[in-house]
Amino acid sequence: MNAPSRIAGANRTLTDELLERRSNAFSRGMSPGQPVFAAKAKNAEIWDVEGRRYIDFGGGIAVLNTGHRHPKVMKHVYDQLELYTHTCLMVTPYEPAVQLAETLNKIAPMSGPKKTMLVTTGAEAVENAIKIARAATGRSDIIVFSGAFHGRTLLAMTMTGKVLPYKAGFGPFPAGVWRVPFPVEHKGVSVEQSFEALTRLFKGDVDPKTVAALVIEPVQGEGGFYVAPGAFLQRLRTLCDEHGILFVADEIQTGFGRTGKWFAIEHAGVEPDLITMAKSLAGGFPLAAVVGKAPIMDAPEPGGLGGTFAGNPVACAAALGVIEAFETEDLLARSLKQGDMILRRLRSIRRRRTGRPIGDVRGLGGMTAFEIVSRHGGNDPDAVGAKALAAECLERGLMILTCGVYGETVRLLAPLTIQPRLLKEGLDILEAALVDPKD
Ligand SMILES: Cc1ncc(COP(=O)(O)O)c(C=O)c1O
Repeated sequence: MNAPSRIAGANRTLTDELLERRSNAFSRGMSPGQPVFAAKAKNAEIWDVEGRRYIDFGGGIAVLNTGHRHPKVMKHVYDQLELYTHTCLMVTPYEPAVQLAETLNKIAPMSGPKKTMLVTTGAEAVENAIKIARAATGRSDIIVFSGAFHGRTLLAMTMTGKVLPYKAGFGPFPAGVWRVPFPVEHKGVSVEQSFEALTRLFKGDVDPKTVAALVIEPVQGEGGFYVAPGAFLQRLRTLCDEHGILFVADEIQTGFGRTGKWFAIEHAGVEPDLITMAKSLAGGFPLAAVVGKAPIMDAPEPGGLGGTFAGNPVACAAALGVIEAFETEDLLARSLKQGDMILRRLRSIRRRRTGRPIGDVRGLGGMTAFEIVSRHGGNDPDAVGAKALAAECLERGLMILTCGVYGETVRLLAPLTIQPRLLKEGLDILEAALVDPKD
């Protein structure tokens, strides 16, 4: 790696100076992030202001399934920039948004007619899915799961299942949000126990007739990349049908091809009523959507859904570029291949039982993760070890992200477009930091 540049007249790097300015200028509540300031990026690589180059296995938190600045995304964006950048979808609509909604309706895994609404962030999509579900059912309660992450706005934060840092100090929370355990066998929660908790909830706390929606991530994202067993999702679908509850799949992190299908719920063969999506939908531009069965999506009154920036035309154009990239570059198949390769590599590193101890290794297609635990063969989470691994990888030129309620999980989200040599180089760095740690 190149040596960091020095600021003229001071024995400090530009990064040192930006870190200080950042900390003075931003609220403490905004996580400081990595001590790296981006200068440019291309596909799976980021260069910082010091000229150092990193391989990006984080994708700015799962946003870059098609990599940084994919040429097809950029072409759509540049063409759109020459025409108009904002008219407001609710005032003067435009074709890229219509075309995108038509395409999302086509790829959403539900039978019958479907409709779409566009917003800007994932949390907004979740909030709108709840509004739509309430309008469609005339009910108010919501069921969510332990370890869930649905966003930082007031209702989405209430639905999120992690106190620090997401909820501490931000109450009181809106009523009517009920939580049951997400099944994670190796953490001692079976599918059976999760179902028992639901049954108890309906007996003791909430009448299922007042529940508008059950919201679940088919693979938990921030909560730790736990894959919901297919049989569990199928039973939930049946339960929802029995009680007239709408099934909402939050695919904000799992969607847009990350798991080798357009949406992770497809692996279970379950049809949701509503799907939320964001993150990789527009390849780095802020865009989110709720897609669902037409009669449900049409329940709110005209004007009840939307927002000034909802479905921004440049973001819609970017999303059309993302879809084109998926269709022409076989990215769903590449996700499955990438996931398989990474899981095999991680399991082979774990078998060596040297260096940092690896616990559970898991994934669905290209959505892969592993845990750092306190001893080889053990199961006790080691969040400090996971953080240290991420810091060492960064030092060695690889960006990875941790997650999990206990902070012990390392998630790997290389772009599905990554060149094979860069994927190998990134995994070599990860392996070195795992088996031969510097600390
Ligand atoms: C499953 C899920 N839902 C909702 C959100 C919130 O999305 P945003 O940060 O765009 O508001 C996230 C973000 O990480 C997520 O992973």
